Amino acid sequence: MLNGKKIIIGITGGIAAYKSAVLVRLLVKEGAEVKVIMTKTAKEFITPLTMATLSKNPIMVDFYDPENGDWNSHVEMGLWADAMLIAPATANTIGKMANAIADNLLVTTYLSSKCPVFIAPAMDRDMYAHPANRKNLNTLQAYGNIIIEPASGELASGLEGKGRMEEPENIVNKIKEYFNTKAILKGLRFLVTAGPTYEKLDPVRFIGNYSSGKMGFAIAEDLASKGADVILISGPTHLDKYSENIELIRVNTAEEMFKACMSFYPACTGAIMSAAVADFKPSSTSSNKVKSNTNLQIELKPTKDIAAELGKIKQKQQYLVGFALETDDEQNNAIKKLKKKNLDFIVLNSLKDEGAGFNTDTNKITIIDKNSNENKYDLKPKRLVAIDIVNKLLETMKI
Ligand code: CTP
Repeated sequence: MLNGKKIIIGITGGIAAYKSAVLVRLLVKEGAEVKVIMTKTAKEFITPLTMATLSKNPIMVDFYDPENGDWNSHVEMGLWADAMLIAPATANTIGKMANAIADNLLVTTYLSSKCPVFIAPAMDRDMYAHPANRKNLNTLQAYGNIIIEPASGELASGLEGKGRMEEPENIVNKIKEYFNTKAILKGLRFLVTAGPTYEKLDPVRFIGNYSSGKMGFAIAEDLASKGADVILISGPTHLDKYSENIELIRVNTAEEMFKACMSFYPACTGAIMSAAVADFKPSSTSSNKVKSNTNLQIELKPTKDIAAELGKIKQKQQYLVGFALETDDEQNNAIKKLKKKNLDFIVLNSLKDEGAGFNTDTNKITIIDKNSNENKYDLKPKRLVAIDIVNKLLETMKI
């Protein structure tokens, strides 16, 4: 139930706006208090009278009423809401939200809001797939907004493909699910490692890898969205955290990551080790730039296996999750790592799978737990993979 939840619905100008009527009716039926903001073009698709009647509140379109000067305060609205839902969200509004183009009441309210924001895109197949739109959606998602992916099927244009706004019942279920799980990890603290490590050769060079950090950041955000306090220890990435529940600690080397993990893990309920830690570092670091005309040989020595070290100090009531990035004999290698590092489960990704592993926005994983249960998941965006991993953690913790 959404009893007493205050929800703003932003309706933008797309044919799917007719579904917003059902959406509002369902939310009101669930006990929510709904206020509707429409863009000017949305009014061409569905009437304000319909939406006002269903939401039991006057519709807001402009910053003020030209008849009497009544002011619609976007700041007050943004603070009033427990959740905001933009449905349908056109490519135009998505672009404005991602770039803070605040030329209407809907976008200014979005920018002033402090609550979770759900975005249900609806547009033609090729518009949805366009890199500019993908980039805007990725930006919004990185800011912590929840994208409700459109469904595939016949589109208003006659084309077949992805772009149809998700059905109102499913959108309402997603919002209910959010509020049900919001506080599920409240009071618990988790450690997450992310990104690569850089092992210094000289003042300008390092040994590193292609890890982007996206998987670990997505896991941290999902844990935080479920109420957990998260210590995110990340190697060098260009990413930033969004949730206030995340404390981001930036490190460079495997040694720095090791020290940070060892100091935080004892006070944590669990750790998810998604960093691609360098296995070797140069035996010595030159304080001067190594000249390119020398016949350079680099001697390496192993770094500490952070996951294995945490596995050694892990207590009965603590959890430890690792990753395995493999190229061959994947299952066996993953099971060996699971045992060696004393993990509760391991997330296996194979570089043989297209779209999996490093430096992509997607991942394809198999989870193997210590009871040898094996679950294969489809290729999906990393933020959805993060949800699968956190759900497996909840199952392991019997929550
Ligand atoms: N890991 C770690 N510290 C290291 C190396 C790895 O914490 N020095 C963690 C990774 O974060 C991951 C898991 O151990 O959760 C497995 O990492 P992976 O690189 O796949 O395995 P390695 O143990 O390094 O073994 P190999 O490189 O030989 O496959």
